[in-house]
Amino acid sequence: YISPKQASQRRNITWHPSLTRHERNGLRAQRGFTVWFTGLSASGKSTVATALEQHLLHIGLAAYRLDGDNVRFGLNKDLGFSEKDRNENIRRIAEVAKLFADSSTIALTSFISPYRADRQIARDLHATASQAGDDPLPFIEVFVDIPLEEAEKRDPKGLYKKARAGEIKDFTGISAPYEAPESPEITIRTDQLSVEDCVRKIVEYLAEQGLIT
Ligand code: PPS
Repeated sequence: YISPKQASQRRNITWHPSLTRHERNGLRAQRGFTVWFTGLSASGKSTVATALEQHLLHIGLAAYRLDGDNVRFGLNKDLGFSEKDRNENIRRIAEVAKLFADSSTIALTSFISPYRADRQIARDLHATASQAGDDPLPFIEVFVDIPLEEAEKRDPKGLYKKARAGEIKDFTGISAPYEAPESPEITIRTDQLSVEDCVRKIVEYLAEQGLIT
């Protein structure tokens, strides 16, 4: 076994102590946390996450949404859709979300994140202190739950049709798995509620938890 301290000594890198989360949150008068959306392609993750981001910014809170455009076109442009690549995609996104949350910003992530184990890694990462005295960063998993038939009916990018025709391999829900969350903090049914009602449900939860006022 090599401890993280020994590992960093071997590589000549040192952890530089910084402000504690508590100090940073106090100075910004805002608590950082991550709202992690998960669901099938075309479930409405990005639509609801964007509306939530707008709402949070509107009430004066710093919020930032990580999504495919700023991640799969940049940081993760070397990754595809194999299980291994999706694992790495989510691992990096979790690290980035944690940095935003650590900076007292509200990080919103809208990725399929189909594997339960990957979402657990993201959750555990937020629970881990970066330095002594850090409180865990709250992690709120939002399951954007719609039936596969409904997502397939929507098919805004025509990807389900292509996947059914065998033109896209490893497509979530068709030829690759989606493991639904077992105990998400929030579940929203975008086929039953309006976008505004979905946002309201999340905002009410965040207020109840004392994360926003
Ligand atoms: S993952 O599983 O979390 O790593 O996926 P993510 O980074 O969220 O990317 C999903 C979007 O990529 C498009 N796309 C695919 N999705 C699923 N399976 C395959 N094979 C695939 N190929 C491309 C698709 O447009 C997804 O967009 P959303 O916004 O989820 O509909």
